[in-house]
Amino acid sequence: MKMRNLMVGGLALAFALGTSTMAVAVQGKKGALEAIDKLAKKAKDASFADDCKSAAGSLELDPVMHSFKPRARGGFGIGPKAGLVPANQDGIEAYLPALSKKGMSAADAGKMSEPVIEMANRVLAIAEVSDHLWPENKESAKSKKKWLELNQLMKDGSKELAEAVSSKNFAAVKKAAGKLNTSCSECHSVFRD
Ligand code: HEC
Repeated sequence: MKMRNLMVGGLALAFALGTSTMAVAVQGKKGALEAIDKLAKKAKDASFADDCKSAAGSLELDPVMHSFKPRARGGFGIGPKAGLVPANQDGIEAYLPALSKKGMSAADAGKMSEPVIEMANRVLAIAEVSDHLWPENKESAKSKKKWLELNQLMKDGSKELAEAVSSKNFAAVKKAAGKLNTSCSECHSVFRD
């Protein structure tokens, strides 16, 4: 009888632990989105890099990267709400290749400038935070130097994108979006198994 109670107790404990771990993971993704957004809004502040560094202390790489997923999967969308871009492009990872292929037209600039600058600042914040989230457990050949280099490419691309949109230099928008896209795929080919 005692034994049975112990087992029931153990099961209840395992269940409680399991669900609480899940809750933390979900909260982690939402928390990362909020933290990144807050940082992105201060991208022009002198304290930006320091703010990103201290925020990184309570963030993990996986939920941070997850913010690149589509809005419907818990990532940032493009613009304040769904519908601004086609549903299959409503996330940073999906929108960047489209932007690098099609660019931005003068006719689109009115409605797209602000959302694209917001996106670029979010990517910049992600890159700044990621500097401090190097996956140390990976093989040493995949060095920290390379990690920082590819993050730098992501920072450069996002700054250039924001500047190009602000100055309505549409050829540069396309180029910067392409550069950003390259930073994603290059880093994934080295660090993301
Ligand atoms: C400096 C390296 C680096 C750069 C640059 C980078 N990533 Fe990642 N990304 C990673 C690593 C490593 C993972 C795997 C993280 C993990 O699962 O712990 C990852 C995972 C992801 C995931 C999967 C997240 C999930 O929840 O499964 C997405 C989506 C993603 N990255 C999108 C992007 C996009 C879009 C860009 C460019 C704008 C980008 N990444 C740039 C290193 C990078």
